[in-house]
Amino acid sequence: MDFASAIRRIEAARPRHRLDIGDPDVPPPPELVEALGRVGDLHYGPPEGLPEFREAVASAFGVEPGEVVAVAGGRHGLAALMWIFRKKRLITPSPFYPGYFDIAGVFGISLEVVESGDGWVPSFSERGIYIVNYPNNPTGSVLPRGKVRELVDAAEFVISDEIYRDIIFGEFTSPLELSPNVAVVYSFSKVFSAPGLRIGAVVAPREVAREVARFNKATINVPPTHVQRAVVSVIDVLPRRRREVSEIYRRRAELAAKTLRLPFVKPAGAFYIFPRANAGCFEKALQAGVSVLPGELYGRPGHVRIALVEPEDALEEAFEVLNRACG
Ligand SMILES: Cc1ncc(COP(=O)(O)O)c(C=O)c1O
Repeated sequence: MDFASAIRRIEAARPRHRLDIGDPDVPPPPELVEALGRVGDLHYGPPEGLPEFREAVASAFGVEPGEVVAVAGGRHGLAALMWIFRKKRLITPSPFYPGYFDIAGVFGISLEVVESGDGWVPSFSERGIYIVNYPNNPTGSVLPRGKVRELVDAAEFVISDEIYRDIIFGEFTSPLELSPNVAVVYSFSKVFSAPGLRIGAVVAPREVAREVARFNKATINVPPTHVQRAVVSVIDVLPRRRREVSEIYRRRAELAAKTLRLPFVKPAGAFYIFPRANAGCFEKALQAGVSVLPGELYGRPGHVRIALVEPEDALEEAFEVLNRACG
């Protein structure tokens, strides 16, 4: 089953609990909603992003504004980087975010897969351009610092998809801390519960950042300027927001560990769990009122991905259904 057919099937079934796509249920920060209501200047802006946006993100990442480019969401940043490195050997660990294969398919790029081992941690020994995603979708795993070192040592360059870097339950090391040969793809979709805003940033060495801006110019020209301004005006809430959302999702993951009887590796970040489940789980759970996504979409049949995007009482009810349908 592909992603589109899974979603079609879920929408037709109208389940009581939608734990399939990763669309956060936690309300966005009120400061952001208010800032978006003040739409002012709607003129064009520079393809690399407004100077104030680049400065705000650069200061959050401890880099120079010339190393930051605004993009229209994480996926757009990923597309830019995969295009830039299209002639190289691209490698990604499995389980993987299916979006990488959507992009590779459209660009006619091939993407190799390395399997993850215990605790969803892969070995990095091949030379190539790695596309990695920690905290991980679908498993919630985070690489220990030693593994991040192994990654940057093996890689020619790392595209580090850090869409979930703000949702962490312990330590997180970005490859950017250990090597200059890294481009981080960042997005405000998950931390601000605002995937419809389509705003994010690529943080990369200047020569790569310039190529990302060229990609912007060729595709969307200018990432939405009023959204960049709104983000700049609320950037100060980011540290508080990180703590708040991390705590909410950590508690939901704890609840899953207590209530769900399907075996899974405890997540260290993001808002997913990826338990083992019987072959008919997707369909049986759906008929019983809970939508999840089949593991085959992420490269691992025999598993399901559960997005923890409902409050705890609703999740508890959904887990009971999953225990009966999928155990
Ligand atoms: C791992 C990963 N990367 C990238 C994205 C794209 O996020 P967006 O384009 O909304 O910023 C997602 C969205 O679910 C994701 O899970």
